[in-house]
Amino acid sequence: MSDAARPVALVAREHADERRVAATPDSVGALQRLGLEVRVQRGAGAAAGYADDAYAAAGAVLVDGADDLGPDPSAALVLRVGPPTPDEAAALPRGATLVGLLAPHRNADAVRALAAAGVTALAMELVPRISRAQAMDALSSQANLAGYRSVLVAAARVDKYFPLLMSAAGTLRPAEVVVLGAGVAGLQAIATARRLGAVVHVSDVREAAREEVASLGGRFIDLPQAVDQADAGGYAKEQGEELLVRQREVLTERLARAHVAITTAQIPLRPAPLLITRPMVEAMPHGAVVVDLASADGGNCELTEPDREVVHAGVTVIPGQGLVQSMAGEASTLYARNVAALVGLLVADGAVRVDDGDEVVAGALLTRDGEVVSPRARGALGLPEVAS
Ligand code: NAI
Repeated sequence: MSDAARPVALVAREHADERRVAATPDSVGALQRLGLEVRVQRGAGAAAGYADDAYAAAGAVLVDGADDLGPDPSAALVLRVGPPTPDEAAALPRGATLVGLLAPHRNADAVRALAAAGVTALAMELVPRISRAQAMDALSSQANLAGYRSVLVAAARVDKYFPLLMSAAGTLRPAEVVVLGAGVAGLQAIATARRLGAVVHVSDVREAAREEVASLGGRFIDLPQAVDQADAGGYAKEQGEELLVRQREVLTERLARAHVAITTAQIPLRPAPLLITRPMVEAMPHGAVVVDLASADGGNCELTEPDREVVHAGVTVIPGQGLVQSMAGEASTLYARNVAALVGLLVADGAVRVDDGDEVVAGALLTRDGEVVSPRARGALGLPEVAS
């Protein structure tokens, strides 16, 4: 196929607070093999450690960034990490297909602007959690890194040695770590904390998590509700305040002895449940550290600030949403593979075709033909259900 006939995939330069990039020099090759011409906005990979030259060497065409020229009008596909602003969404070429971690519940204006601009948007966080889509599961790839990093950050900051130490000067007990939420990030946090020698206690509201926690050497905290809160899709259901009150009572006692708390409890496209209140923080040992990986969705800890650390009663509360930013190179490597795998479903016969007969594509579809089409996103945005 001649280059002129190839659909263009544009790799966007992200906003200043996003260090990751949606394609790496490696994934450029994968995109080209799908029959795409890859254009990369200059500097797109710089913060993740991928220089313009490396993209050029991989065969990508470098183009000026959005700030200078606006999006390439010939782009059939636009690949991003974070969501566009409403203005950027409005400026996308009509009929283009956008792929990104679009967090629709936190970006209602951008989602509306994408629909109004006639953009077909696919949100990576809406990709169904089915076996065939595992290679596209960006929530998992990024949560894995965040869970790992959260423990290293906490271990470096807490006034406590993680493993049991027996020395001539005496014995130090191992650190007590509490992990709230045993999904992908939580399980990685448990495994990492265990490798460092800590004793790890874990709370989740899905019964299925109990066995996974045990297999990693974690100790499951029994909750009084003792009712499985998983929905049909394997996610946690939003709990009523009454159940949360009871859960916090149980956690209060455990946290009062914890040196570190890693909180990852989330309900997809909903605010995060409040699991650690101010008095619970005040009851934690002096020098303890809380890392809140749910901070982007309001946080599991009452004291979490989304963009800064807080020290209260000798306890440091660290927002976790930026942790993957400190591993932007590897986070991008994995994310770019997730994106390339999804794009593989969107290109057929030398053209971009968004086929909603495919279960994965249909699940990920956020906007199309001027509408917000995802039922989950419509629910999160308070839009009425559409008849199917
Ligand atoms: P998530 O990020 O939505 O939530 C994290 C964890 O918080 C979940 O385990 C959830 O049960 C828990 N949680 C919610 N409310 C809580 C509360 N009040 N107290 C304590 N914990 C609470 O979840 P994630 O990591 O995205 O995984 C969700 C599910 O999807 C899990 O069952 C996971 O095993 C499954 N999964 C399936 C995959 C596949 O089949 N391809 C891939 C990845 C995950």
